[in-house]
Amino acid sequence: MLLHFFETLNYSHVFLWVYTRVKRSLSFSLSLVSLLKGVIVTFIIISKRERSALLLWLCEDSDFDEEEEEEEEEEEMVLKAATSLLQALGNAARRAIPFFVSDDDDDAKIIDGKRIAADIRAEIKGEVERLKAKTGKVPGLAVVIVGERKDSQTYVRMKRKACDEVGIHSFHSELPETISEKELIDVVKGYNDNPDCHGILVQLPLPKHIDEEKVLGVISLEKDVDGFHPLNIGMLAMKGHEPLFMPCTPKGSIVLLERSGVELKGKNAVVVGRSNIVGMPASMMLNKKDCTVTVVHSRTKNPKEICRRADVVIAAAGSAKMIKGDWIKKGAAVIDVGTNSVEDKSKKSGYALVGDVDFNEAKKRASFITPVPGGVGPMTIAMLLQNCLDGGKRAIEGTK
Ligand code: GUN
Repeated sequence: MLLHFFETLNYSHVFLWVYTRVKRSLSFSLSLVSLLKGVIVTFIIISKRERSALLLWLCEDSDFDEEEEEEEEEEEMVLKAATSLLQALGNAARRAIPFFVSDDDDDAKIIDGKRIAADIRAEIKGEVERLKAKTGKVPGLAVVIVGERKDSQTYVRMKRKACDEVGIHSFHSELPETISEKELIDVVKGYNDNPDCHGILVQLPLPKHIDEEKVLGVISLEKDVDGFHPLNIGMLAMKGHEPLFMPCTPKGSIVLLERSGVELKGKNAVVVGRSNIVGMPASMMLNKKDCTVTVVHSRTKNPKEICRRADVVIAAAGSAKMIKGDWIKKGAAVIDVGTNSVEDKSKKSGYALVGDVDFNEAKKRASFITPVPGGVGPMTIAMLLQNCLDGGKRAIEGTK
């Protein structure tokens, strides 16, 4: 019987066995690197005083037997630094765990956007604290909303709450639907001139009587945290140029791929959709990452055939479950930007959010996939905070 077993083994079995072992040990090494990175990053972002206190404490320096008050202050700092490090260790361990437990080679790894966004927000919070300790200043974001669209109001509330949580100061202008284009432009110009404001976000869409392009074009290039200014988009497109800011949703999609360890250089990437907010900038970002990019849109003749050749798919078409399992190449990485609300009687609200990708079908073919909700969504706000921090640092510290 044993002989029969060896007779039935062929090269493909051996190759598959070796491949699986190599893949697992690579995942193991990546996990260790991830853990180490988490600790080093935190050690860098905690304040200088906390770091020295922690080092002193670790080295059991006898400075602690000085005045009682000083001792208490130092102990507090050690505690703060140790808490930050433990938190980072926890985050890094959680990031590493999927590599250890994922034993299912058939289904895609689910990219947890919620967790990655939380890690990024924690990193930003640390940086804001460092900036405040060094300069006494924090980044400021102005959020401008026109009219009473419920979805826009919800997004704006979420953005302001996220700012509060990481210590970014937020300014707020809630303007009536009837405001004139000139009055809105004057509000934007006021924030352009305010030195405590380092980012301006005009929530879209604007009412029909206002020319969006004109308003976005007025935002100072250095405060364009949405990355929608024509000059920032132009610099994103051009070789040898870098924009000051990149649009948040596509930037978040790329960060999800990178933080999941997906190699982009030389890969075939397909972007489904060509909107100014997601599809168009996503295609340019992938191009900058050395992908060969194809954009599929509503007039494309053979979208399925084109998608099937893609190693990386970014779906931003705004059409529920349009991308089926047989559109996906085996082993592709799939980022689903779609948030479509569809009727679902099993839910209390009567509807459910679904992406542009048929998740249950696609996960059987992809190697990585984002869920909806919980994939790209949380990254948009994390990237907005990152852009505010970058803008704030440039203005306050004069960094590049
Ligand atoms: N409306 C929908 N998405 C966005 C966005 O990313 N930025 C702004 N300003 N408005 C939006």
